[in-house]
Amino acid sequence: MALYIFERSTAYIRPLIFLMIAASAGILALMRLSIRSPSSIFSLAKLKDAIFGQLWLIMGPKIAEADQETSVPSLVAQASGVVLEIGPGIGSQLPRFDKSKITKVYGVEPCLHLHDGLRRQIKESGLDDIYEIVPCGIEDVVELKKHGIALSMIDTVLSIQVLCSVPDPDEMMRRIYALMKPNGRLIVYEHVKSTDNLSVIVQNMYNVIWPFFVGDCNLNRNTERSIMQAGTWGKNQLTPPTAEDAWSPLPRLQGSLWKAG
Ligand SMILES: C[S@@+](CC[C@H](N)C(=O)[O-])C[C@H]1O[C@@H](n2cnc3c(N)ncnc32)[C@H](O)[C@@H]1O
Repeated sequence: MALYIFERSTAYIRPLIFLMIAASAGILALMRLSIRSPSSIFSLAKLKDAIFGQLWLIMGPKIAEADQETSVPSLVAQASGVVLEIGPGIGSQLPRFDKSKITKVYGVEPCLHLHDGLRRQIKESGLDDIYEIVPCGIEDVVELKKHGIALSMIDTVLSIQVLCSVPDPDEMMRRIYALMKPNGRLIVYEHVKSTDNLSVIVQNMYNVIWPFFVGDCNLNRNTERSIMQAGTWGKNQLTPPTAEDAWSPLPRLQGSLWKAG
């Protein structure tokens, strides 16, 4: 019992530590903004963007290192053909692509603060010829079209910890589904709403301030439902959070599924 309480408490404190790092990143971002573009401080969207950009520059590489021990490397290596990478951030997944399998990658990344890092990683990974940064959110249909992204043209959609942040996830998943070719593959690794009642309460509590500091990320989304309602799927190799994830405020949904042919 004592061990059980200890393990739960430790798991529930972890997001608080992350929030404290985010708050420090926020102070740094605020200082930078007030020097470079003082008027931006009064725009909530720009302020949130700058805070997340600063946070991800600090935490992105550490999270990428930790992801090395998860299913992420093997999932990313399965991307093939024309790839739509949603929210590539600073390009942490790029070294994990199997270059022999991919012909083109569109990286849809709205946070401009991360673009320098992303460009650096594209070069380092030898993807200059085939990687195109699309500077918008996945909801920006006009910008996607400008970059030639059209319906039924994507072989692989890659979403590593992004569906928690997109606006209106049900609608976004329907649009993503429409961009995929028949038999196209969706690869996800996402933190989702817990199935444990106490953990859901903890997620809901954190979620009052979490999206402000962490780039509109939500801890309590039912991402599997958003994916499943998007359209008709064929083969499904999605793994929902396991019983061992019960007391994690960040339980994972991971794997692949294929659009029906
Ligand atoms: C937690 S980070 C993950 C970054 C990267 N996928 C990785 O695994 O390192 C979430 C990313 O999603 C991006 N993002 C947020 N909202 C988005 C949207 N509406 N469309 C596309 N990307 C978005 C963020 O800017 C950020 O780069």
